[in-house]
Amino acid sequence: MGPLQLRNRFVAAPMERNYCAKDGSVTERYIAYLGARAAGGAALVHTEAGYVRADGKGRPLQLALDDDRHVPGLRALTDTVHRHGALIGMELNHGGRTTRRDVNGHRPVAPSPVPCQVTGGDLPRQLDTADIHRLVRAYRDAARRCRQAGVDVLTIHGGHGYLIHQFLSPVTNHRDDEFSNPTLFLRLVLDAVLEQAGSGQAVGLRISAHEGHPAGLSADATFALMKEVPLDGLDFLGISAGSYEAGEWIVQPGEWEPGILAPYAQRYRRHFGLPVGVAGRINSARAAARIVASGQADFVSLARTLHADPSFPRRVLSGAAYRPCIACNRCIDELHDNQPIGCSVNARA
Ligand SMILES: Cc1cc2nc3c(=O)[nH]c(=O)nc-3n(C[C@H](O)[C@H](O)[C@H](O)COP(=O)(O)O)c2cc1C
Ligand code: SF4
Repeated sequence: MGPLQLRNRFVAAPMERNYCAKDGSVTERYIAYLGARAAGGAALVHTEAGYVRADGKGRPLQLALDDDRHVPGLRALTDTVHRHGALIGMELNHGGRTTRRDVNGHRPVAPSPVPCQVTGGDLPRQLDTADIHRLVRAYRDAARRCRQAGVDVLTIHGGHGYLIHQFLSPVTNHRDDEFSNPTLFLRLVLDAVLEQAGSGQAVGLRISAHEGHPAGLSADATFALMKEVPLDGLDFLGISAGSYEAGEWIVQPGEWEPGILAPYAQRYRRHFGLPVGVAGRINSARAAARIVASGQADFVSLARTLHADPSFPRRVLSGAAYRPCIACNRCIDELHDNQPIGCSVNARA
């Protein structure tokens, strides 16, 4: 992955947990949680969608990347993950229209004033050009903080209906200025983050391969947009799907086929020639092996799978039994209820 070598093809996907302090700083609980995933054998352990600016915070106990005072806490996280032989990744995000004033104290901002009913329906303020450029600088500053904290991998969150995706989508971008070009904001953020990245860091982009509802970006429309973005400067792509209005594509139900997003990943892998990872209910050794062996993706991104059993990679690689996630979705329900997330099959979480 760019300048980095992963010890295997298991990546702990970004996953909000509501384990931070109210000001977004790292807690002992967070360090212990992530340390357990690193000790469990994953090659690269992501934190979560960390907010790059205060008005991008979507959960009360979400991880903050918006201020220099968070660097020592991020460094403690990094050191713990490194001690267990894994790499650490941060995901840079701004929630845009999905945020709530009663969570972060700010009116939501967005490309256009399209409320997100799923998260409460606050009417967002339309971003003006100067503020869009300030936001690009917020991504850049967050990337710098991650570098200072010794983070190995920067993942830009371009999916799931958050701010970058809101610019990409015709549902949420009704602008008539230069930012009516759906990829402009993403391109500016990519440039800003790449400019900050150190020579030993890898930078990637996570996208929703489709938005998941009829009015949103289809798989073909998303693919066409991505062809307009200079992705060759990146070290990897992460394939996910969905948006807040189609949350089942972000966190797939148990009835759906494991690895349902792998065909989308294959298309990106073939076309762009970058290492590609894919998420989506890859909850068994068999599903992971099938995806990698068939060349659909270079690595598998595991969220609930590692929440349920942090040692899934080590156990799979040694042929031992593991405890599978049953897709009951208690964890995502608790996240939406603004609670620290537990797990139905793993009391230690
Ligand atoms: C509780 C929870 C929180 C999540 N938070 C994030 C996040 O912060 N950033 C992100 O890109 N995806 C997030 N996701 C999506 C996961 O990274 C992953 O793509 C999805 O859950 C499918 O993988 P899985 O079946 O292994 O859980 C979250 C998923 C869950 C269940
Ligand atoms: S709470 Fe349920 S869905 Fe979430 S990781 Fe645990 S078993 Fe899987």
